[in-house]
Amino acid sequence: MCGIVGYIGPRQAAGLLIDGLRRLEYRGYDSAGIAVVNGHGLKIMKAAGKLSVLENELKEKMPEGTIGIGHTRWATHGAPTTTNAHPHTDQSGRIAVIHNGIIENSSVIRKALQQRGHVFKSETDTEVLAHLVGELYQGNLEEAVASALREVDGAYGLVFLSSDEPGVLVAARKGSPLLVGVGENEWFIASDASPLLQYTRSVVYLDDGEMAVLTREGYRVRNLETARISKEVNQIDWDLAQSERGGYPHFMLKEICEQPESIWNTLRGHLLEEDGTARVTGLNLTDEELKQFERVIITACGTSWHSGIIGEYMLEEMARLPVEVEYASEFRYRNPVVDPRTLVIGISQSGETADTLAAVREAKRRGARTIGLVNVVGSTIAREVDGGIYLHAGPEVGVASTKAFTSQVAALALISLRIARLRNLSILQGRQFVEALQRLPAQAAQILERASEIEQLADRFLRTTRNALYLGRGVNFPVALEGALKLKEISYIHAEGYPAAEMKHGPIALIDENMPVVFIAPRDAVHSKIVSNIEEVKARGGKVIALINEGDSEIERLADATFTIPETLDLLTPILTSIPLQLLSYYVAVSRGCNVDQPRNLAKSVTVE
Ligand code: F6R
Repeated sequence: MCGIVGYIGPRQAAGLLIDGLRRLEYRGYDSAGIAVVNGHGLKIMKAAGKLSVLENELKEKMPEGTIGIGHTRWATHGAPTTTNAHPHTDQSGRIAVIHNGIIENSSVIRKALQQRGHVFKSETDTEVLAHLVGELYQGNLEEAVASALREVDGAYGLVFLSSDEPGVLVAARKGSPLLVGVGENEWFIASDASPLLQYTRSVVYLDDGEMAVLTREGYRVRNLETARISKEVNQIDWDLAQSERGGYPHFMLKEICEQPESIWNTLRGHLLEEDGTARVTGLNLTDEELKQFERVIITACGTSWHSGIIGEYMLEEMARLPVEVEYASEFRYRNPVVDPRTLVIGISQSGETADTLAAVREAKRRGARTIGLVNVVGSTIAREVDGGIYLHAGPEVGVASTKAFTSQVAALALISLRIARLRNLSILQGRQFVEALQRLPAQAAQILERASEIEQLADRFLRTTRNALYLGRGVNFPVALEGALKLKEISYIHAEGYPAAEMKHGPIALIDENMPVVFIAPRDAVHSKIVSNIEEVKARGGKVIALINEGDSEIERLADATFTIPETLDLLTPILTSIPLQLLSYYVAVSRGCNVDQPRNLAKSVTVE
């Protein structure tokens, strides 16, 4: 949420910053701005709207300078206007800041500053920070920032730049991710690695409470109390090509199509065919410890929460362990019953979602063992949990999560298999499960080869609808939730996911000839039940689109249209049934002219509460 990039080195900064912001735009895209320092002082350019608006403005008059900062915003305080766009400056106009996060005591500080004569231009909390630093500035930006941050409550990832010190960038992190990119005689600061990958793979992740000072000679990490901190330099293991569109019209489609590979990348190296189990050493838990857990809490947000519910079905069915799945935002503010016998699994693609991070911290505080299923290597959740599994799905740039979801389910399958084999699952059942997992990438590819069938369904049933229902049962109920979420977030069609049998307790009232109903109905343990639910919809004139297995003549006869998915074990069907639903929402959104990769009001990584 909000993208941050800063540069100091021999290159011209402005173009590099814009380029970096383009790669960060998925984090927020309601306004953007840059600031550079050159012989004429501080030059700031900003514009409301997509980055392209700013780029157009800069075309003729790209400011010169080899040090600068850039920001793409997702509004929290104040509307997405040019005035509210970052960078913001202090009263003197000589100090600029970009910021991701929320300063919680900003109104108190603002009031005090106003009483001392400060005049604010924007409604943002960030401008308050700039003014505070300006007031404390006595010729040393680093010290002024450190002093100001001691007065501030809330979350931030921020970078300061001053025309009085044209060779220094001062960054600080508390709650919002930041990393330093270490190049050859050049240094970067960014909210994730994507803007600096073309220059360097060496990065230093800042931890909460840390500041980084970047100069033309190098970088230094310290804390607010001035102690110097020595930090490990990490190597990023994915490359630029992976974070580019590579010929696809949208990142979302590229990422949907990558799933045969990304699912395999999650599973690879973990499957033990002979023993019919999974090797998950990253959990940092011995077999004895794994066996002793009495319950599991899975906590996550959005799409990751949906994968968590699938994990609940898997762990309960396979390992006979009680599982609760909690919205991270609720878990952290309840008084959850958690103890050392509880295993808490935090699921997050970005590894930066503020609520999930807070939930994991809360669980740790209460003595639980925490593990993370995270895609972004080196992200905060990944670093804070006791152990976990990296998804290795590759960078997910499209705001709607797709390949991360199937990889999360694959990772949950690995954990379930491991625990189940330690508890009660036979080696034979374990081997069957491993075999089924190994078949999934090829089966996903078979589905993707028939994407045009889904495109036709999108056009025939959903393109012009205002509402849609998604119904599934058992382990495909969360797939219904996920299908509905995908549709609403990128095509703005109101959609609801429900357990199919719950429909008659209310939503059935909505069904008429204008209501498309998507059933997820593979031939599983609840197949006969879902057939009855389809009958109920048909009896009321609803239009039924059903995901079924090959040869399901019963549903073929009932439904208005069907799409077949390959057979797999019941518990693994979500990995296959979710793919056509991702494609369905993609094609609907494209046909409605929606901005698929950057849907309105959303941001890829929600780093505020
Ligand atoms: C929906 C979507 C969001 C995220 C949610 C959690 O397509 O992407 O619902 O799943 O914001 O994000 P992560 O997984 O990064 O914690």
